[in-house]
Amino acid sequence: MKILITAGPTREYLDPVRFISNPATGITGYLIARIAKRKGHDVVLISGPSFLKPPKGVRVIYTESAIEMKDAVEKEFLACDVLIMSAAVSDWRPEKKFDNKLKIKRKWTLSLVPNPDILKAVSMLKRKNQMIVGFALESQELLKNAIKKMKDKNLDMIVANTVQNFGIPEKKSDIYVIYRDETIKDCSSFTKMELASFIVKEIERLAKKHNEK
Ligand code: C5P
Repeated sequence: MKILITAGPTREYLDPVRFISNPATGITGYLIARIAKRKGHDVVLISGPSFLKPPKGVRVIYTESAIEMKDAVEKEFLACDVLIMSAAVSDWRPEKKFDNKLKIKRKWTLSLVPNPDILKAVSMLKRKNQMIVGFALESQELLKNAIKKMKDKNLDMIVANTVQNFGIPEKKSDIYVIYRDETIKDCSSFTKMELASFIVKEIERLAKKHNEK
């Protein structure tokens, strides 16, 4: 299959040296890319800023802002069978990016505007035989909110996890894989590698089921 994966955070600059971001490492997305490639899939990885080494044989497109990531995803989406959107996309960006480094010494207010929702945008373009997997990071009502997100964004599967330990690579958190029929698989005991492996296996299984229909 042609698998498109996004990973890492986005950066939303307010001047040439300062930005809004989050502590996402990109590890899960990079692992999914590595495992999918190893299993013989054709893999494209759209990565936000990350220090991780790109997996061998995977085409990597580097992006910074949510808007850059959206452009890249839209360009690659048509040709893919599966999109796995593991990137932690910033929900907002500064309304204005200043050309020069800000030297404001007094208290001031930064105005933020919402970023486009990449998943929502591409789910409108989704063909019958394409699959989309999303991620949901929640601080409350994890399963309820994740199921709502899966439906709103028209996803085939969603990986839900709690904000606890977000961005700390060696720590585990509560993590669940939720399917369209709302069945839930508890993956909390999985390492990141086991989770990535499970996600690839599940995509292969769902794709087979899709094709049999
Ligand atoms: O709504 P929320 O940001 O929690 O949704 C998370 C999922 O949506 C993730 O798969 C993330 O990559 C994706 N997302 C997106 N565009 C955004 C924000 C999040 O595609 N602007």
